[in-house]
Amino acid sequence: MGLGNGLENKRVVILGGSSGIGLAVAEEAASQGAKVTIASSDAERVQKATECIGGEAQGQAVDVADERAVAAFFTKLGNFDHLVFTAGDSLHLQDLASTDLKQARRAFELRYWAALAAVKYGSPHIRKGGSIVLTTGVAGRRPHKGWVVAASVCGTIEALTRALAVELAPIRVNAVSPGVVRTNLWQNMSSAEREHLYESVGKSLPVGRVGEPHDIAQAYLFLMQEGFGTGQTLVVDGGTVLV
Ligand SMILES: NC(=O)c1ccc[n+]([C@@H]2O[C@H](COP(=O)([O-])OP(=O)(O)OC[C@H]3O[C@@H](n4cnc5c(N)ncnc54)[C@H](OP(=O)(O)O)[C@@H]3O)[C@@H](O)[C@H]2O)c1
Repeated sequence: MGLGNGLENKRVVILGGSSGIGLAVAEEAASQGAKVTIASSDAERVQKATECIGGEAQGQAVDVADERAVAAFFTKLGNFDHLVFTAGDSLHLQDLASTDLKQARRAFELRYWAALAAVKYGSPHIRKGGSIVLTTGVAGRRPHKGWVVAASVCGTIEALTRALAVELAPIRVNAVSPGVVRTNLWQNMSSAEREHLYESVGKSLPVGRVGEPHDIAQAYLFLMQEGFGTGQTLVVDGGTVLV
């Protein structure tokens, strides 16, 4: 027997859907018959991703850090079923002593404040039975040295998810917490550094490799469809929290 609410003909909106985890969610949802709309800040990337997803996929360039643009996007979009937020920029990891606190505040702009704006302006358009899936990261539960700010953002998203589940009920609100995944998020590293990271992290994990975007996408699809869980963070990390 399938999950409670299938995605056939459901309208799924993915902010951050032009690349990585968001693009994989868009492809998987479209393959299950969902009508997908993606948005990200770069028009060219949105267009390429929309072509890649195929079917009835639509795309629009929206800077989700711009509250007015987010509000306008949802007003124009109309009603839909599921909101997925995967927008994120490259991480700036630093030890606390050399952290510039003004700059550190910016780490919350996209992952926290933009997610909150998306939920504020998107949730009134969510149809009965719909849901919201946010994105955090396993660093909130398993921080490493140098991850003080990034891990704080992740913990904040978990708390936000629980609070929104109460605030917006009966809309279900959940989050996915990935471990290291092979995506453009790591593009501020040289390709050699990046491959070294993937290899060394992968070897240290119980599953023996880092994640691929489609591994993580399955968690979003589950949370959209299962119909009963809310306020939860689903960890998909290859066992990072165990080692
Ligand atoms: N990859 C990992 O190892 C990992 C681990 C834990 C958590 N995560 C989290 O997973 C989420 C997705 O990351 P990813 O790994 O899939 O990275 P990604 O491939 O770089 O995707 C990030 C997406 O966010 C969009 N984006 C960036 N700035 C934006 C803005 N101002 N407005 C709208 N869209 C914006 C990007 O498109 P444009 O550039 O076109 O705007 C892109 O579609 C992030 O929150 C990340 O922190 C990732």
